[in-house]
Amino acid sequence: MASAQVSCCDSSLFPSAAAPRPSPSLFDKDRIEWPEPIQRVQSIAERGIKHLPPTYVRPVEERASGHVLVEEKIPLIDLSGLDDERREKTMEEISNACKQWGFFQLINHGMSTELLNAGRDVSRRFFQLPLEEKQKHANDPKTYVGYGSRTGVQKGAILDWGDYYYHHFLPASIREEHKWPSKPLEYRPVMKEYCNGAVQVCRTLLSVFSQNLDLPRKYLEEAFGGEEDIGICVRVNYYPVCPQPDLTFGLSPHSDPGGITILLQNDVSGLQVRKGDYWVPVRPVPDALIINLGDQIEMLTNGIYKSVEHRSIVNDTNERMSIVIFCNPSGEKKVGPAKDLIDGSNPVKYKCMTFNEYRMFIRTTGPKGKSYVKLE
Ligand code: OGA
Ligand code: NI
Repeated sequence: MASAQVSCCDSSLFPSAAAPRPSPSLFDKDRIEWPEPIQRVQSIAERGIKHLPPTYVRPVEERASGHVLVEEKIPLIDLSGLDDERREKTMEEISNACKQWGFFQLINHGMSTELLNAGRDVSRRFFQLPLEEKQKHANDPKTYVGYGSRTGVQKGAILDWGDYYYHHFLPASIREEHKWPSKPLEYRPVMKEYCNGAVQVCRTLLSVFSQNLDLPRKYLEEAFGGEEDIGICVRVNYYPVCPQPDLTFGLSPHSDPGGITILLQNDVSGLQVRKGDYWVPVRPVPDALIINLGDQIEMLTNGIYKSVEHRSIVNDTNERMSIVIFCNPSGEKKVGPAKDLIDGSNPVKYKCMTFNEYRMFIRTTGPKGKSYVKLE
């Protein structure tokens, strides 16, 4: 096996691996159902209500007020610097952004303005369709594929003020294009091109991260399953105008369970990133892609890079949308810390498990900070 494949999963040399977490197999995937009838946030918003229904009201101590650092900024990186004399500096900027923030914005990333706008356009047009049309694609919690309005199946949970559409792109064997929006007609071709662009960005980043960590250039891409098996899925988020935005979230604090997330927002801001005890708003930069590291990168790097909590807030004047591409390890491949990143001063901190096992946590309990990645 190529050295690029070596991780602690391949060996029993590391008996001190993290304490076992509750086994995800506790959740019998085939028996999961939504615990309550699904209500579309968009439909509630369109009723013109003045007060938020109690299902969306967070307890006072969980609300977003305070602790927001408007003067801080996540790093902004010009990816075209990799191709010229700025290469070393750009690699270092990415390294620092990964270590200090786990979040950065990318410009000159290779996806054209036309493609980004086309992605935004087909996404918006899907959510503008009549409810009956969207309902044809209603999702269930066994796969999450389709039109959804909650994450997690805990009965009585407080819900987030947002709807979404979720589907796969890679591996091609699970793409199931017939489960993508069928309208607008341009959705499928545009989203395919959009995803192809995002895959390139993702592969570049995986290679840069590997090199910055002194791993073989292809290490992380191979750990994700290589060109054939890398997982790419899409979540288009739609956050309607909210009558009492201070009482709720568009998306509650969470870290992304996967590898790398590539997010594009419309011109309405709302994403905030955790920095210690504070939250830093991501300022809108035209056509920038917002990149963040997920839990699988934290595990693969044995915590040298950390996944970072983020949340989105809503407002009472503008709807907000985001197109989110998740770049994940292939579902059945075990993920664990790279052997080369483990030594006496950085002993193994994470248990190996497949990404399919791992993501059952968030799919069952809903977004809950970083409670799934347990160190030690
Ligand atoms: C996500 C996410 C934030 C946003 O979909 O995982 O964090 O601003 N979205 O839409
Ligand atoms: Ni997220």
